Amino acid sequence: MPSFGPCPSEGVTEFQLVALRDGAAVADWVSKAVLDERLDPQAGGTRPLGLATGRTMEPIYACLADRVARHPPVDQERLRRGWLSFNLDEYVGLAAADPRSFTAVMARHLVGPLGLEAAAVRLPDGTAPDPLAEAQRYAAAVAAAGGIGLQLLGLGLNGHVGFNEPPCRPESRCRCLRLSEATRLQNAAAFGGEATAVPTQAITLGLGEILAARRLLLVVTGAAKAAVLRRLLQEFASAQLPASWLRHHPDCTLVVDRAALEG
Ligand code: GLP
Repeated sequence: MPSFGPCPSEGVTEFQLVALRDGAAVADWVSKAVLDERLDPQAGGTRPLGLATGRTMEPIYACLADRVARHPPVDQERLRRGWLSFNLDEYVGLAAADPRSFTAVMARHLVGPLGLEAAAVRLPDGTAPDPLAEAQRYAAAVAAAGGIGLQLLGLGLNGHVGFNEPPCRPESRCRCLRLSEATRLQNAAAFGGEATAVPTQAITLGLGEILAARRLLLVVTGAAKAAVLRRLLQEFASAQLPASWLRHHPDCTLVVDRAALEG
């Protein structure tokens, strides 16, 4: 696989780049990577999956459900029994039952289609009375499970991963933070197109927890992401582009489609 990024210096690894035809090919590739990891204990180890929400992830989860359905029942059962995943983030103030919460999104796109136990797909509690304490509890739960194995990541238009908004240092930990106007605008579609209806705060795993995952898959699709992808490929790592810190991870694959790559 080619390595991609500006002038690697000693001790700094770069992205491995997988460039595919379109979003469907990306969903196919990523869903296969997830399933291979889950069904092959040698590849996956025992760490839980790290999952993301967003439009980029929805075709991946649909493809995953299709793939799982084509496996023999014994594999399907093994997958369900062994499932444990932690999502990156959740809005503060939205209950799990609120259809706009990431918990509800995961229930619709993953828990239901794969027939998983809801408790095996974990997210921060957006209605916890003390969001800071909830962030700490969530980080402790991830650590108690051994940290993340394979982590799926989408990319915000401003370079965020999870909800790690710029500026963001690579040591940042799981926390409650204020969302940028750009992010609230990006995610407005799920809130009737009203950026002001998007919650102002979220709980997110930090870059510290993300960079501690065993393997990262950063998925970028669609022409709207072309400008931020170009920045990611051309700029040095900096707090202004949180995803740029991922190039320091020893096993980070950037999976893109042609539209994102060429604009
Ligand atoms: C959101 C989420 C991220 C997601 C990213 C990209 O705000 N917090 O986890 O990966 O932004 O979203 P999309 O895939 O809809 O472009």
